[in-house]
Amino acid sequence: MRVGGQAELLLEPKNPDEFQKACKACVERGIAPIRILGGGANILVADGVLRGVVIATACLQRVFRPGAGGESEEEASAEMPGEFDMELPSAAMVQDDPARDPRLVAWAGCTLPKLLRTARELGYSGLEGIVGVPGSLGGGVAMNAGGRWGDMWDVVESVRVLGAGGEFKDLARADCTPTYRNGGLGNEWVVGAVLKFEPKPRLQIQEAMSEYLITKNKVQPVTAWSAGCIFKNPPAEVSDGRSAGQLIEQSGAKGLSCGDAEVSERHGNFIVNRGKACAADVFELMEAIRKHVLDATGVELENEVKIWRNEPDEGESQSS
Ligand code: EPU
Repeated sequence: MRVGGQAELLLEPKNPDEFQKACKACVERGIAPIRILGGGANILVADGVLRGVVIATACLQRVFRPGAGGESEEEASAEMPGEFDMELPSAAMVQDDPARDPRLVAWAGCTLPKLLRTARELGYSGLEGIVGVPGSLGGGVAMNAGGRWGDMWDVVESVRVLGAGGEFKDLARADCTPTYRNGGLGNEWVVGAVLKFEPKPRLQIQEAMSEYLITKNKVQPVTAWSAGCIFKNPPAEVSDGRSAGQLIEQSGAKGLSCGDAEVSERHGNFIVNRGKACAADVFELMEAIRKHVLDATGVELENEVKIWRNEPDEGESQSS
């Protein structure tokens, strides 16, 4: 969205151990709140200086195959020299038959586009539906990113999180309860995940991705500055099956604006920044939309985007 102010403190750990150390150091020094920043695709940051610390996962970029040849995940990870930041899988990733164990380990900061490219090149199907989502693995798992063609958690086998006490925990899929746009991890921060795919021909994966992307590009303002969908789709029984975008359009809120923040004409559930919007403009517009929809349809829209602002009673950790 390109609005919002600055972080008082920013930390950029380079690996999961540094991530853990960063969190512990902040807790020990009483620096709060701690906010975890993934790709930032679904966050609205208030104007001004954001108190506390932001820990960005941007450098936690690795994606690799677990146990290729029988090693543990740690060994497989250690084998990758330096920062693994390649466009396509390295020779080390494809030296045996990738279909034998169609899984990937990705660290929190791995971008979803990079993860999808890697999966496609290995012939791993399951995440095609989130093509075009610009965030990171950590944010995608925390929010259960997705849409009409599937959700992030469709492929999650287990998640490694940092608990409130600063300890790593591995959560199996069976012990988690992700729901619509919510990974259900509470205040536990995603460090990485093991993802399980289904082997498929690369061409088939590519075709599905292209088809979804074409459809999405037709209905969403993909090149404009936005934070994706602003509101969650309400439960069908509350909205008669209408999506947030439909409710916004029907309530006549399309085209409303506040400063340079404007409701997209292409998709009512997107607010776009025409250039000089500030966060206050976006927040005001969100409230105007919510009121329009409530008055016209009786449905109260709930935020899908996460808002980062200084709260008077701040001191608790938040994550996204
Ligand atoms: N529609 C309208 N007017 C609008 C916008 C949409 O009538 O202004 C109608 C469409 O014609 C369609 C229905 O509403 O019949 C649903 O629209 P769409 O297919 O665009 O899907 P959505 O429910 O609005 C969800 C996700 C998107 C994801 C798409 C496609 C939510 C809140 N949104 O959108 O995710 O990209 O499906 O998979 O769940 C995001 O999470 O940020 C996001 C953009």
